[in-house]
Amino acid sequence: MKYEIIQKDLNKIKADASVTFVINKNLNHKWIDKKLFKNLNFNDKSAVLINENLQIFVACKSIEDEELRLASAKAYSLLKTTKAKSVKIGSYLGKCKFLSMKAIVEGFELGSYTYDRYKKNKDTSALKIVKISTQSYNEKQIELKDLQEAIDTGLAMSNSTNYAKDIVNTPPQDFTPLQMEKEAKKLAKLKNVSCKVFDEEFLKKEKMEAFLAVNRASVFPPRLVHLTYKPKNPKKTIIFVGKGLTYDSGGLSLKPSSSMTTMKADKSGAAAVLGIIKGASELNLPFEIHGIIGATENMIGGNAYKPDDVLIARNKTSIEVQNTDAEGRLVLCDCLDYAQDFKPDLLIDMATLTGACVVALGEYTNGILGINEELQQDFFQISKKSGELTTPLYSNRYLDETIKSEIADICNISNTRYGGAITAGVFLSHFIRDEYKNKWLHLDIAGPAFVERAWGYNQYGASGAGVRLNLHYLLHLAKAK
Ligand code: BES
Ligand code: ZN
Ligand code: ZN
Repeated sequence: MKYEIIQKDLNKIKADASVTFVINKNLNHKWIDKKLFKNLNFNDKSAVLINENLQIFVACKSIEDEELRLASAKAYSLLKTTKAKSVKIGSYLGKCKFLSMKAIVEGFELGSYTYDRYKKNKDTSALKIVKISTQSYNEKQIELKDLQEAIDTGLAMSNSTNYAKDIVNTPPQDFTPLQMEKEAKKLAKLKNVSCKVFDEEFLKKEKMEAFLAVNRASVFPPRLVHLTYKPKNPKKTIIFVGKGLTYDSGGLSLKPSSSMTTMKADKSGAAAVLGIIKGASELNLPFEIHGIIGATENMIGGNAYKPDDVLIARNKTSIEVQNTDAEGRLVLCDCLDYAQDFKPDLLIDMATLTGACVVALGEYTNGILGINEELQQDFFQISKKSGELTTPLYSNRYLDETIKSEIADICNISNTRYGGAITAGVFLSHFIRDEYKNKWLHLDIAGPAFVERAWGYNQYGASGAGVRLNLHYLLHLAKAK
């Protein structure tokens, strides 16, 4: 969709359709056409399309960003039922209240996402242009360039999220670790982005035995992708590490059939890393950002790694394998160790790591784990406005003990069935060097990464979890210092 700013009053702009956001507390405002709203039976949850003139009224709880995203996605779904090619919206609410155009753009773009690559009949919409009236913008001294920046930021956020969705939604036969390599190399065409991709030989040379073990029974070789976004005079070095399991069958500890479907989404951490690099470049963020991805399948076969194997990771920690379905942490531990060689000021890994996280938090919420509770809290507070839901999860001395092994340094699963999201985080913490312990966060995105029943503005399929969350945090860091 194209967004045009027009310096005219809303009623002077020509468009096929119009959208009016009705903020709930303004339902009785003097400019509300009471008779019309009564006839429409309009209430604080309504979204109404008037067929004669393609006027849309959509109720909005408040002018908070997330309420606007939800409302504009609703408006979009009504527009989609019409043949309107253009729509106009006002940006002014009266009494100095300006709607966040960033949030409205995000609602439109995220709400209009479809994945129809494999469908004969494509899901197309006539809508091409959104015309935004400045109305009282000039008079109220709001700069046009701020409005343009809000639109551009909204577009960067949603385009990179939708890009991650495409990757996750692609079926495993078409999105292999080799495709991950291709996708990453395409990103290297963006401004300030470069990409290196490493193969099995490199992993052997680096002694990444844990990562290699997971890959062994796959017919596709593994790939370690290392993307770098480097603007001039970067303020900090921030590293993202992503779990890129292009398929997780569980390995010899095979998943039951019903849990195996959706496991194409086990590459969601990697997809988020790719989305963040794309977004960082589009937003011109002032940081050096690395994106490191461990891409492989977890399959079965005569050469598969086994429960009872002991693996020596890159950092020399020995790991007793008790369950080959706890493979994500084995790939991540070697990637995290590699990542720390690049001296991050902040190190964040993202993974669809545990079903336990979904049980604990529900399917809508990402878990924020780590060692530095203050950093977890900080990330949580700031993430609230991103549109993604998060909750910090903290470990304790008792849970820390549950991954002890009789014959190796640690086990790849814990000795209790409870607290699995946290004990997976504890496992990863064994690979974080002392100097980075306070700079590390682990995001378990297993719940929101794949949407089985549509919610909010998320359709069935991938949600692009992790992308907006982190871009929002980075934008905050960029403004803070
Ligand atoms: N990829 C899964 C986790 C997962 C489950 C993601 C459901 C999304 C939805 C991960 O590799 C896994 O299988 N974890 C096991 C760990 C267990 C063996 C300790 C799990 O969660 O059951
Ligand atoms: Zn698994
Ligand atoms: Zn997995």
